Amino acid sequence: MRDGNGPSAGAGDGVSVASLLDSRLLLVTGKGGTGKTSFSAALALLGAVKGRRTLLCEVDNHRPSMAAIFGHPPGLRPEEVLPNLDLVNVHWDVAIADYIERYVPARRLVTRILKNKLVRRFIDFTPGGRELFILSRLTDFAADYELMVVDMQASGHAFSMLDITRSALGVFRSGPMLKRVRAMIDTLQAPDTRMVFVSLPEEMVVNETIETRDRMVRGNLIGGPPLVFLNRATLPSLTEGERSLIARLSEQDLEPLAREFVRAGFWEDTLEQATAAAYERLAEVFPEPPVLIPPAGAGGVPRLVVARIAVHLGRMVGVTRRELPWI
Ligand SMILES: Nc1ncnc2c1ncn2[C@@H]1O[C@H](COP(=O)(O)OP(=O)(O)O)[C@@H](O)[C@H]1O
Ligand SMILES: [Mg+2]
Repeated sequence: MRDGNGPSAGAGDGVSVASLLDSRLLLVTGKGGTGKTSFSAALALLGAVKGRRTLLCEVDNHRPSMAAIFGHPPGLRPEEVLPNLDLVNVHWDVAIADYIERYVPARRLVTRILKNKLVRRFIDFTPGGRELFILSRLTDFAADYELMVVDMQASGHAFSMLDITRSALGVFRSGPMLKRVRAMIDTLQAPDTRMVFVSLPEEMVVNETIETRDRMVRGNLIGGPPLVFLNRATLPSLTEGERSLIARLSEQDLEPLAREFVRAGFWEDTLEQATAAAYERLAEVFPEPPVLIPPAGAGGVPRLVVARIAVHLGRMVGVTRRELPWI
């Protein structure tokens, strides 16, 4: 049980993860390499297993990382990869074509809108202008599925993509584009849209997680309460007595074998302390305590890492290993 002042695998984790899976839209972000793609895939798998029609989106990625997880690269249109689970790669050019197809009624108008100076200028000169159309497409998808999980870009880029809605409000003062932008903002701010941060027990990564959350809160870009996963966490196992014994022994001249043991203990203690420090800082700013996930091992095989994370998260919400694909 969680004791309220330190990291632990607690009963609260089940509630946090279950409420994520009951949401409609999960936007997964974090510093590069923290585990965004792995967690997006694991959460989408769990959503699908729980019977929700789920879409997993990779965003404008020219070298889709979902390929290593699902065995083939995601298509430009949603394709079923598992029961209840569709996969798609959202490219800005397809997103623009879709926008036109959906929201511009007459063919004649299609050419006109492509030539529409305002839209063109917005796409060409606004940093993130293209992302506006990606967001538009994501907003449409979100309405078509019961659960949508977006493997977003790394924090800074993810923030810019969401924040583009604000600049767009200043550009499009009326007309269909303004209506779209309003719809995107409504989706972002909906209580069942959840920002999911993946962090690591490293000071710099925790800093970036907290800064990104702050910027998103200030930009009013967050819907329901954001949740943070502390990936590659080392759960506390050493007692105070063991810790001080390790510290004392570290300063002594020991036999080589004993020295190896003490070094291993020292390393374990260092990792546990790093997790505790990260946990504490994240718990201070996020509304719910961080959910800890240990290193998966799995030899770094992306598909296996996802499977391990899914099993771990599944256990928190009563999904058994047997119900999960690949396992
Ligand atoms: N808990 C974990 N244990 C072991 N390996 C992990 C874990 N989480 C992620 N990885 C591995 O780390 C690498 C980066 O993870 P990934 O999900 O691609 O991160 P991101 O999308 O944030 O760049 C991948 O090779 C992935 O398999
Ligand atoms: Mg990734």
